[in-house]
Amino acid sequence: MDAITVLKKDHRKVEELFAELEALGERAYKAKAKVVSKIILELKTHAELEEQIFYPAFRAEADDEDAVLEAYEEHHVVKLLIAEIEVLAPDHERYMAKCTVLKELIQHHVEEEEKEMFPEAKQAIKAAELEALGKRIEAARPAVQAKAAAPAPRVSVTMLRDAKGAKIK
Ligand SMILES: [Fe+2]
Ligand SMILES: [Fe+2]
Repeated sequence: MDAITVLKKDHRKVEELFAELEALGERAYKAKAKVVSKIILELKTHAELEEQIFYPAFRAEADDEDAVLEAYEEHHVVKLLIAEIEVLAPDHERYMAKCTVLKELIQHHVEEEEKEMFPEAKQAIKAAELEALGKRIEAARPAVQAKAAAPAPRVSVTMLRDAKGAKIK
């Protein structure tokens, strides 16, 4: 499978998981937490694979430095939000709001990748190389995913406040 097909498949998987999350009942906190942890694992793995393998190849071959720099920033913002969601209880009033914003960030990012970056990659990178990149992504996936599944270092939650301005523990 070529790299673009592989990455698009990941995108669809995350979209399915977000749809699963939205279909859950408001008070299905355990089920929500389970789906959200799956989404987070998928996103961390996918972002790392892009950053390690696809983005450097795109940067080297396609003439669109801005696109790749913007993509790194979008990944960065996604990771910040993930770090906040990871320390928030699923029954917190801001939990689903953060998940919705995460979904919206991802939608925007995926759209830019699929409508701009990937078509440019197809132009700039030879089909055989895209195949090789796809193989490299799949070969790297198990280790990258295992690392993504490891407990995250505790982040500062000083920026997290509830609606009344109190710190969230
Ligand atoms: Fe990305
Ligand atoms: Fe992506």
